[in-house]
Amino acid sequence: MELLLLLLLLLTAAAVASGSGEPAHPGYTHTDEEGPSSCGVVKEEAAAAAAAAAVPERREEFDGGRIVDISHYYREEMPAFESAEGTAGFLRLARSMRNGSDIANFSELRLTAHSGTHVDAPGHVFEHYFDAGFDVDTLDLAVLNGPAMLVDVPRDSNITAGVMESLHIPKGVRRVLFRTLNTDRKLMWKKEFDPSYVGFMKDGAQWLIDNTDIQLVGVDYLSVGAYDECIPAHLVFLEKREVILVEALNLEHVTAGIYTLHCLPLRLRGAEGSPARCILIK
Ligand SMILES: *[C@@H]1O[C@H](CO)[C@@H](O)[C@H](O)[C@H]1NC(C)=O
Ligand SMILES: *[C@@H]1O[C@H](CO)[C@@H](O)[C@H](O)[C@H]1NC(C)=O
Ligand SMILES: *[C@@H]1O[C@H](CO)[C@@H](O)[C@H](O)[C@H]1NC(C)=O
Repeated sequence: MELLLLLLLLLTAAAVASGSGEPAHPGYTHTDEEGPSSCGVVKEEAAAAAAAAAVPERREEFDGGRIVDISHYYREEMPAFESAEGTAGFLRLARSMRNGSDIANFSELRLTAHSGTHVDAPGHVFEHYFDAGFDVDTLDLAVLNGPAMLVDVPRDSNITAGVMESLHIPKGVRRVLFRTLNTDRKLMWKKEFDPSYVGFMKDGAQWLIDNTDIQLVGVDYLSVGAYDECIPAHLVFLEKREVILVEALNLEHVTAGIYTLHCLPLRLRGAEGSPARCILIK
């Protein structure tokens, strides 16, 4: 009985040992010349050449227009708040294959937390919220994802209380993306920051808080507050941590209406802002 058990164990061990001689994955071959730094991967020359010949597809829409990307792609010329330099130097190839010193390309990011399409957390304008840890990792994914309304703001004004009233946003609407003159002026495509952008005036922000159920406010330039009332408007929105702000959305490729919004910021603990990928689904 004991002998049989021992024999079984030996057979099992032998089977495991012979199995380990095979590569872990058919696509991954191993040669003894490769040091541990190679990650055990040897590139197939033919496959690499074929991939190099392919042209990457850049899209604003997916699945025949059902999914629309409303995030701006990161680029050097993308404007940054109060800067003339845009987003210069945001991406750097820290380790490169070209000079043969490395086996993989490896880039580094250098960005402000409020670069491009991004969200603001309460700690952005309130010291006590910052200190208490109300960072982007605490934002509610149930607010950042769900039905949303895209509205067109009259092009001749900033977003005042009067403008907010005139939009007639129904009660119960929790997420609104405000398309303004900024989109027509293509301000996100101008490298130099433009303080004449359209945003909320303090009274417009207050009207929204007092008269609507909106918990997510999206805008089409770098700040939700018009330049002259930038901080006062932020204070109104974030004071009671009732609203999530999404800024610098790309609203060029959509029509006004109701969509499903998905907005996913990075889980940056300690950060009062974060780049976010935002999409609308029809
Ligand atoms: C290889 O290129 C990378 C990226 O350009 C650079 O940081 C690194 O210093 C280079 N290494 C050598 C040995 O030239
Ligand atoms: C790695 O970066 C170099 C530029 O230094 C580029 O020429 C090459 O195509 C990149 N390789 C891969 C695999 O992306
Ligand atoms: C919005 O306000 C800014 C100042 O904050 C101003 O420069 C701009 O002209 C205003 N835009 C409109 C359309 O009234």
